[in-house]
Amino acid sequence: MRFKKTQIIALANQKGGCGKTTSSIAIAAAFNQLGYSVAIVDIDPQCNATESFGILPNDLFSQGKLSILDGYIKKRSAIDIQVGFEPERFDNKLFVIPGNKQLGEVGGYLETEALQQIKFERAEIEVDDLRDEHRGRLRSCLDSLRGVHDVVIIDTPPNLGYLMTSALVASDWFIIPVFPSQYDLAGLEELTVTIGKIRKKYNPTLKLAGVLLGNFDKSTKLDSQIYKLLCQKFGEDAVFQTTISRGVRMRELTFTKQTVFEFEGASQQADQFLTLVNEMINRAVKGPESSKALPQIEKVVERVENSEVDMSQLPEFEEQRGVVNG
Ligand SMILES: Nc1ncnc2c1ncn2[C@@H]1O[C@H](COP(=O)(O)OP(=O)(O)O)[C@@H](O)[C@H]1O
Ligand SMILES: [Mg+2]
Repeated sequence: MRFKKTQIIALANQKGGCGKTTSSIAIAAAFNQLGYSVAIVDIDPQCNATESFGILPNDLFSQGKLSILDGYIKKRSAIDIQVGFEPERFDNKLFVIPGNKQLGEVGGYLETEALQQIKFERAEIEVDDLRDEHRGRLRSCLDSLRGVHDVVIIDTPPNLGYLMTSALVASDWFIIPVFPSQYDLAGLEELTVTIGKIRKKYNPTLKLAGVLLGNFDKSTKLDSQIYKLLCQKFGEDAVFQTTISRGVRMRELTFTKQTVFEFEGASQQADQFLTLVNEMINRAVKGPESSKALPQIEKVVERVENSEVDMSQLPEFEEQRGVVNG
C-alpha cells in the first residue's frame, strides 16, 4: 500500500462505447506501472474487461471458481474472488475480480427476493431496508479490499440500472468517460442527476474525479469543440486536462489480451493514461492548491441542471442541420 487509504473509483456513463472498459483497464494498469497495488472489478454482464485479461468467465464458472456474481448473490468477499497473474506480468500488484454473464439478472433476482418478503407479511418499510441492503452489496463485498489494494477500479455496464447504482454506492470517486463520437449531452445530464440522488441517499462522500475525453482527435474541429463544450457544461475543473488520443490500434487490445502498456502500437495512449493518473493523484493529494482544483460535485450537479449549453452551440451541428434543411 502506498496510499493511506484504499480509493475505489467507478467509470460511469450509461452510454455504451464511450471508453469505460478501455479506460478502466488502462487506468488500473497505469496505477500498477507507478507501483500501486490495484484491483479491477468487472460488473458488466458483457465481461469485456475480464476477457481483455484473457480470463474466460464461462470457464471460471464451469471450474467452480468464483466471480463477482458470488459477491452479489452469496455475499462472498472480493478478496476471495480476486484472480492474480504470473509475477512477471504485474509484479503481483494487479488483480481482477471477474465478471459473469448472468450479472444482468442480479437486480431482478434480488428484487424478487424483496417482494417475497411482502408475501411473508413483513412490513413494507422493512422491504425498503432490504432494498437498501441490496444496493450496498457491492460495497460490502469490496470492503474486503480496503487496506489491501491502493486502488480499486470498477468497470460498469451501459445503463443506469441496479448494477450501476451498486457501483456508485460502493465508490469513493467516479470518472465520466466520454467519446466525441458517442457524445450525448442529455444522457450526461441524467447521469449527473442520478449521481446527485445516490450521494444524497447512500453515499454522501462520493466525489467526481473528472470527465475524461477519450478517442480524441485534436486535429478535428468538432472534437476540440466538444472538449470546450464539456468544460462549459461541467465547469473547467471537472474536465481532465489530459485527453486520450484516437488510435486505430487501440481496438486491437481486446484481441491481443494486452494492456496499453504491453502493446507497442499504443504507446502514445499509454503515456497519456500515465499522465492522467498523475493528474488524478496530484489533484486528490494537493486538493485546492493543485494546478486545477478538484470539482465540487454539488456545484457540478447544480451547474449541469441549470446550464443552457446544448448541442446547437456546436457550429458543425448547425452546418449539418443547414444542409439537411436545404
Ligand atoms: N483511444 C481510442 N482510440 C480508438 N478506439 C478506441 C479508443 N479507446 C477505446 N476505443 C475503442 O472504442 C470501443 C469502445 O470502447 P469501450 O472501452 O469498450 O467502451 P465501453 O466500455 O464504454 O462500451 C472499443 O472498440 C475500443 O477498443
Ligand atoms: Mg464496456
